[in-house]
Amino acid sequence: MTSAQIQEASNFLKSKCDLVPEVGIILGTGLGALVNDIEIQEIIPYEKIPHFPVSTVETHSGKLIFGKLSGKPVVVMQGRFHYYEGYNMKEVTFPVRVMKLLGIKYLFVSNAAGGLDPEYETSDLMVINDHINLQYENPLTGPNLDDFGVRFPDMSEPYDLELISLAHEISNAHQINLKEGVYVSVPGPNLETKAEYKYLRIIGADAVGMSTVPEVIVARQMEIPVFAVSVITDLCSPGKVKKITIQEVIAAAAKAEPNLTKLIKELVVKVN
Ligand code: HPA
Repeated sequence: MTSAQIQEASNFLKSKCDLVPEVGIILGTGLGALVNDIEIQEIIPYEKIPHFPVSTVETHSGKLIFGKLSGKPVVVMQGRFHYYEGYNMKEVTFPVRVMKLLGIKYLFVSNAAGGLDPEYETSDLMVINDHINLQYENPLTGPNLDDFGVRFPDMSEPYDLELISLAHEISNAHQINLKEGVYVSVPGPNLETKAEYKYLRIIGADAVGMSTVPEVIVARQMEIPVFAVSVITDLCSPGKVKKITIQEVIAAAAKAEPNLTKLIKELVVKVN
C-alpha cells in the first residue's frame, strides 16, 4: 500500500460524496445496527473503491456509509478486514488511512471479544483502556509512510482518556453497566484453548479478540484520538469456557447492541 493508493481511494470517495466526516466508525461482528440510526447520504460498497480490500466474512457486509449520526457527519465501515481472512496488516488498516484523508478527527471502534475477567458476563460492554498486541504482523513494518506519521509512534496512551471519561458519564446517565479493561489481540481464526485463555489473563488482559489493534496502531501513528469498545460475547475465565459457535457470538453481540448504539450516538454528539 502506497501513499498514492491511499490518496486515490480518498479522491474517489470525495468525488462520490461531498460530506466531510468528523468521526470514523468501524463496526465489529454482529454490530452493524448502528447504521439504522444514520441519516445516510451515500453508501459505497468496498469493491467499488480503488485499492480497497474486499471483505470475505459473511457476517460483515462490506460497505462504507457516509451520513449524519446525531447530526454529526460520520463515515462508517460496516464490515472490517481481519488478518485471519488472509489480508496483510497494510490491507487491514488501509481504510483507516483513507478515512484520515477524508478528514476524520476521531476514530471509534467496536468489536466482539471473549471475556477473560471472571467478573464479566455475556453481552457486557467493555471500554478499552489499553491493549496487548499478540498479532504476528505489525501494520507499520516496512518503509515508513512519512506523510502519515513518525517511524516510532508513541503508544503510552492509545485510547483517549477524555473519550473514556465521557463514555462513563453517558453510561451512568443511562444505567449502562460499562466495564473498562485491557484488550489483547490474537491472530485467530481459531478460538483459544483453556491454557491460552489462562495465559492471556495472566499477562494482563480482560478481553480477547481478533481485530482492532492494527487499526488503532495506525490511527495513533496518524495522531487520531481513538475510542474502542468490546462486546463480551463469550466467557473465557477458568470454569466458564465452553464450546461456542459464531451464531452464539452474533446473538450475544445483538443483545448488547442497543446499549452500544446509545453510547456511540451520544459520544458522537459530545466530541468536537
Ligand atoms: N477469542 C478470540 N476472539 C473472540 C472471542 C474469543 O473468545 N470471542 C469473540 N471473539
